[in-house]
Amino acid sequence: MKRIAVFASGNGSNFEAIVGACERGEIPAEVALVVCDKPTARVVERAANHGVACFAFDPKSYASKADFEREIVRRLDEAGVELVCLAGYMRICGEVLLGAYGGRIINIHPALLPAFKGAHAIRDAFEYGVKVYGVTIHYVDASLDGGRIIAQRAFPYEGSDLDELEAMVHATEHPLYIETIRNLLNNQK
Ligand code: GRF
Repeated sequence: MKRIAVFASGNGSNFEAIVGACERGEIPAEVALVVCDKPTARVVERAANHGVACFAFDPKSYASKADFEREIVRRLDEAGVELVCLAGYMRICGEVLLGAYGGRIINIHPALLPAFKGAHAIRDAFEYGVKVYGVTIHYVDASLDGGRIIAQRAFPYEGSDLDELEAMVHATEHPLYIETIRNLLNNQK
C-alpha cells in the first residue's frame, strides 16, 4: 500500500475527503501522516478521529524554517511517504522540503491559476466579479502557487453569496483532489 501525507493548517475538509477515499479504497494508498503548523487546528482532531499520525508543530519554537522542515522531512522519510498533498497548508515550501520531496509535492488552490494566487483566492475572484470559478491542482515549487498544473475544474457562478460560492468551491475541490491523487499514484507504478 502506498503512503501519502497531507499538510494542512486549518479546517481539513480536504484531508477528510482524502482520508475517506483511502479508507473506502477509492485511492490506492493510506494517509500515513498529517503535518500541521497550527496545533489547535481542526485538522489535528480530524487526524486523531481517523487514527492517522499527526505532526503538529509551532513554527515559532524552531530557530528557522529550515529547522522545522528538517524535522518534517525526517518524519516523512520515517513514514515512507511517496506523495505529499498540501491541502490548505498556509506556508511556502522551503529548500529543505523541496530538496528532499520536490516533484512529489502537490497543492490544491481554490481558483483557476494563474489567476488569483495567494491566500484569499475565492474572495479575490468574487470581488473581481468573475463569472467562472474553479480549482487547480499543481506541483509545488518555490514560487507562490506557481508550479506546473496537473488538473483544473471550472464552474459558472453569477450569484452574490460568498458563503454559497465557498461551499461550491469546496464541493469541487474534494472529488478533483481524490481523482488526481488516484491518477498520480496509479501512473507511478
Ligand atoms: C482549500 O480551499 C484549499 O484550496 C486551500 O485552502 C483550503 C483548505 O480547506 N489551499 P480545508 O482545510 O481543506 O477545509
